[in-house]
Amino acid sequence: MSHVNYDERIPNNVDLSNDRRLRRALEKWQPAYLDWWRSVGPQIFADNEIYLRTAISTEPGGWANFGYVRMPEYRWGIFLADPEPDRVIPAGDFAGQPVWQEVPGEYRNILKRIIVVQADTEPASVEQQRYLAATAPSLYDARNLFQVNVEEGRHLWAMVYLLHAYFGRDGRDEADELLARRAGDADKPRILDAFNQPCEDWLTFHCFTCFTDRDGKFQLGALAESAFDPLSRTCRFMLTEEAHHLFVGESGMERIIRRAAELHKIDPNGDARAQGGIDLPTIQRYVNYWYSYCLDLFGAEVSTNAADYFATGLKGRWREAKDYDEHTALGQTHRIEYVEDGTLVPRDVPLRNAMNEVLRQDYAADCARVVSRWNKTLEAEGLDFRITLPHNRFHRRQGIYAGHYFDPQGNLIDEATWNARKDEWLPTDEDRAWVKNLMKPVYEPGKMANWIAAPRRGIHGQPIDFEYVRVD
Ligand SMILES: [Fe+2]
Ligand SMILES: [Fe+2]
Repeated sequence: MSHVNYDERIPNNVDLSNDRRLRRALEKWQPAYLDWWRSVGPQIFADNEIYLRTAISTEPGGWANFGYVRMPEYRWGIFLADPEPDRVIPAGDFAGQPVWQEVPGEYRNILKRIIVVQADTEPASVEQQRYLAATAPSLYDARNLFQVNVEEGRHLWAMVYLLHAYFGRDGRDEADELLARRAGDADKPRILDAFNQPCEDWLTFHCFTCFTDRDGKFQLGALAESAFDPLSRTCRFMLTEEAHHLFVGESGMERIIRRAAELHKIDPNGDARAQGGIDLPTIQRYVNYWYSYCLDLFGAEVSTNAADYFATGLKGRWREAKDYDEHTALGQTHRIEYVEDGTLVPRDVPLRNAMNEVLRQDYAADCARVVSRWNKTLEAEGLDFRITLPHNRFHRRQGIYAGHYFDPQGNLIDEATWNARKDEWLPTDEDRAWVKNLMKPVYEPGKMANWIAAPRRGIHGQPIDFEYVRVD
């Protein structure tokens, strides 16, 4: 088990003390990072003591360290999963050859771009969520928000380490740019669209951690299969942190859905809003919105870039090494439905070109499992309503379905039908106003806002009424 050295200014398990140049470069970046955190990180409870976990080793169980921390004093650092002995390139033209410990010159720019795009999402989500604690539905939820925030900050560190350690001067410039872009900024926005969307209410936050962090899980999973071993090890460790973010989103949504069901049953007309809650149709519309936005993050259905990434071994499929026997993906096809002359036409495309779509389908299957667990809750509550995921073609702004109209079942429809029915399918201004109006802080330990059920258990064995955030 690899322990993290906390004695240094930047905790790490990459032996930073023996690489003076790199250590100095990162020590120079550190104050800029802290300035960034101060100016656009959490603005509420910014200096309060929060019950947080900090990694003490890089094993999956290395999270034993829970305690009160003021966020600016969080021990952000550089932790890579332990090397796998004799690891070979999992996928592509070089499958079976030893992995790379250095960046091959011919892939330098594309690898740097892949790292920058992933890295950019990490600080973006912290920025999107900076004011959320002002309306936290409980201290338990505020604590979960902050745990996610500090770990996204650490993910930024993880990626910045790679840029500094392996990409020289351009890498350092990119690391500086990561602190210069801002979520939603008109002049210097974050790279991906979903990371410029505002996150101003807690239904959005829980959709975001459920669906957008899950996109992160699959992107990190594809990069964990990379031929570039330091990237693989970095992503493998980030995945262990990501699991908690997904738990926050999935369980947060489950609690909102459970409470919607309870209020539906209490109200004589089955109207959860009349009882001061969020109704299930509104939750469904938020799910439709965020799920479809996140599908866009996987890129075009048919992509030569995706084929190149796979061929060169820069990325693999989800669980490439474990779940596949055939790692070249040559001589195989994937069926894609194109829109042609107002109808859907199936075409078989080379599998390598469809790698974005393959990853998107793995993601979709993971989301479907989550939704089926929410529906168990609705069933247990005795309701007939079920949450569903819209079709992969619904409400897309990227790829071959962008610019066409589909209903949530994936049927091609015309623009007039879309305009007539879109308010059934996507959050309306009125929905957003209603949700926003419910957002009032609840800062008493153990108390929950009316629109969300209590969690089934606390964090790390603590009771639900534990003081997860020390309010004064
Ligand atoms: Fe992350
Ligand atoms: Fe995350």
